[in-house]
Amino acid sequence: MRIAIASDHAGYSEKEEVKRLLTSLGHEAVDCGTGSGESVDYPEFAAKAAEMVSRGECDQAVMLCGTGIGMAMTANKFKGVRAAVCYSEFSTEMARRHNNANVLCLGARSLSMEQIRRYVDISLKTPFEGGRHLRRINKIHEYEKQ
Ligand code: RB5
Repeated sequence: MRIAIASDHAGYSEKEEVKRLLTSLGHEAVDCGTGSGESVDYPEFAAKAAEMVSRGECDQAVMLCGTGIGMAMTANKFKGVRAAVCYSEFSTEMARRHNNANVLCLGARSLSMEQIRRYVDISLKTPFEGGRHLRRINKIHEYEKQ
């Protein structure tokens, strides 16, 4: 898959690790910044990666900030984006299985690097179940018109 990755300063070093992980798993990682640990504003970087998913230029995205929350709030402003803040193996699996999340948002200050690697791996491997869940996610996007 072609996967956009983005972070602010709080998630910079973890983003670099995730980039290496994605590449080692055979995915193409598209780095949308930030490029260092210098303080930046997270919406700029979340927006770059979310736009790539929204336009179909990337299949999915992984975003890291201190908590994952600001990245998800920004990403969910983009049409077709379903960003989920995942905080456990279960929430990560369900975000894919039931919500077909296409943006995984993780907290670099709330998770260990081991947890981050594990959640990225689960997210990549878990399929969407479809069926009644497809009807429900379609309803999410109906609200984009309002
Ligand atoms: C930066 O200090 C922090 O606010 C940011 O990384 C993120 O957690 C916002 O949601």
